[in-house]
Amino acid sequence: MDVPIRLPAGTNADHADRSRPLAVARWLWVVAALVVVMVAVGGITRLTESGLSITEWKPVTGAIPPLTEAQWEAEFAAYRRIPEYTQINGPAGMTLADYKTIYFWEWLHRLLGRLIGLAFALPLALFWAIGAIPAGTKGRLLALLALGGLQGVFGWYMVRSGLGGQATDVSHFWLSVHLLTALVTLAGLVWAALDLRALARGAGARGGARARVIAPAALAGAVLFIQLLLGAWVAGLNAGHASDSWPLMQGRLVPEVDWSRGVVRALTHDPFLLHFLHRWWAFIAFAALVWLARRARRAGARSASIAIQSAVGLQVLLGIATVLSGMALWLAVLHQLVGALLVASVAWGAHAVGSPAGTGSPGGTRGLTDGA
Ligand code: HEM
Repeated sequence: MDVPIRLPAGTNADHADRSRPLAVARWLWVVAALVVVMVAVGGITRLTESGLSITEWKPVTGAIPPLTEAQWEAEFAAYRRIPEYTQINGPAGMTLADYKTIYFWEWLHRLLGRLIGLAFALPLALFWAIGAIPAGTKGRLLALLALGGLQGVFGWYMVRSGLGGQATDVSHFWLSVHLLTALVTLAGLVWAALDLRALARGAGARGGARARVIAPAALAGAVLFIQLLLGAWVAGLNAGHASDSWPLMQGRLVPEVDWSRGVVRALTHDPFLLHFLHRWWAFIAFAALVWLARRARRAGARSASIAIQSAVGLQVLLGIATVLSGMALWLAVLHQLVGALLVASVAWGAHAVGSPAGTGSPGGTRGLTDGA
């Protein structure tokens, strides 16, 4: 369904006729949903220890999995050369059938990455060609495209960090770069889609549809970012296994930490310390996000407020449940999935509080920031 389009002053009339902000916004929602699915599949890939199963990166031909027994044997032979196999899975008796299972998750994860790339690039080219992209939006879309490309590169660097030397797992630093890039991209997609939706609804005519990142949103976002980083390091170091109790860790509130190699080393590598920080920083993140949610509600974005508060509450409960269950796979995957949904809802709330005056306030044009 097309809606009448009013563009900011200064936009040329020819462009005004052809730009389709709502259609572009809808496409970005679809891509954002695909990214959420991708994050969940990435979680399964990590938690099933599948990430190192494919030892090469062939962007095009790699989309086709081995089809014959000989091809499977060749893939398995390459895997049998890396330390994860020689030191862990080999001695544990991994068979070709076991290998096919871990191969599946890594292959699916990479395939989804390719699909998201196409789902972004092809419509982008089409919208561009027909002039459907509103003025001032192209740069952002190109930046999102670049982030997507970079994500593939980071993903491969992450995998490579687990293939060389004696490493039997990927570097937790690369894992955090990979996960956080995905979450930042997701927030960027949501933000751009919301701006375009506001534009489509005529906000541009009232002095610009673009929201700004205002200080409270930046602060809440920074607090959340720290929590996400800690979470990614906990995940990358398998530090979830450092404790299966809550609130105490190994019968103590503060676990024993190895400080012998300095504070910085401990803060970046010690699984007990990082697990401890992640489980308690969660409550600071909780408070910051509830604060943001209340501001979003005052700005007229009730749905965004509810989304943030539900997601952050659920996320804390899932984190605790994951620990208490001794790292049950389905709980850990849900924790990763809800983490992504939380990021999307925080982007939504931050957009609402930073929307131009009147576009997000009750009694103003409430609908611009509330509801999809
Ligand atoms: C605002 C609240 C929270 C946020 C945004 C958050 C976010 C994250 C993120 C992004 C990860 C990395 C990968 C993954 O999602 O599994 C993670 C991992 C983890 N989090 Fe949280 N978390 C929160 C609260 C908690 C709490 C309260 C606990 C436990 C008491 C917890 C325990 C864990 C554990 C054990 C992992 C590692 C899971 C794994 O290896 O799969 N989290 N968290």
